[in-house]
Order: sequence, then C-alpha cells, then structure tokens
Amino acid sequence: MSDIALSDAHRLGLAPMDDIHHEFMHLMARLDDAGRDDMMACLDALIEHTEAHFAQEQQWMEESGFPPVHCHHGEHERVLEVVREVRRLAAAGDHGIVRSLVRELPQWFAHHAATMDAMLAEHIARSGYIARATLERLVLQPA
Ligand SMILES: [Fe+2]
Ligand SMILES: [Fe+2]
Repeated sequence: MSDIALSDAHRLGLAPMDDIHHEFMHLMARLDDAGRDDMMACLDALIEHTEAHFAQEQQWMEESGFPPVHCHHGEHERVLEVVREVRRLAAAGDHGIVRSLVRELPQWFAHHAATMDAMLAEHIARSGYIARATLERLVLQPA
C-alpha cells in the first residue's frame, strides 16, 4: 500500500486548500497502488483533479489580488504540461513513465506547498478574502 499521504508539514491552515491538497495526495496514492488495469483511470482522475485544483488556486489568486500570481501560475502550467505528456506516453504503452511521475510529483508538491501555496494561504488569511467570499455567497444564495 502506498505511503503517499498529506503530512502535517503540508497543512497550511487554510481548510479549503488543505482539503484540496489532501485529495491530491490521495489520488497520487491511488495511482501508486494501481495495477495495469486501473492505471489509466487513476491517472485521468489525478489529471482531472490537478486541473480543478490549479484553477481553484488561480481564482483565489485573482480574486484576492495575490502579487506573484504569474510565478505561481507558471509553475502550475509546467506541471500540467508534464502530467499531460505522461498521459500521452502512458497511453502509448510506457507504464514506467507513470511510476516516475508517482515518485517525482509528491516531491514537487512538498516544495510547491511550502513555497507558492504557503504564500497564497498566508495572503488569503491576512486579506480576509475567504471570509468575505463565504459571506457574499451566503448573502447571494440564502439557504
Ligand atoms: Fe495547491
Ligand atoms: Fe499551487
């Protein structure tokens, strides 16, 4: 069974972001445990999550006025390019490349979470953006 999991060191204290990162690690663990039969389905699930994960952070960056938005966006784009290329090679029969991704991506994430995502989480906490956004949703969509 895979030992890939969200560690306490990865938790940034912003619940919606920590939840997304927990799912990211969970999907990497599933891919790590996958056999030939379910490898492509697990890879597709990871890619689908990663696209949504990065799109959500992009929205937070734009709406909260995060200054280094382009730098963070650039890192996300490079990772998406890599995972899509891995998907293409895996579909052509290269399963070893998926194993490499499973080894490398958690290491990339540990660094990214400790730098770019940590800066974003701190900016959001300081700016009160999430609290404002939640309040606006409650006002616009009363239960
Ligand atoms: Fe993230
Ligand atoms: Fe990020």
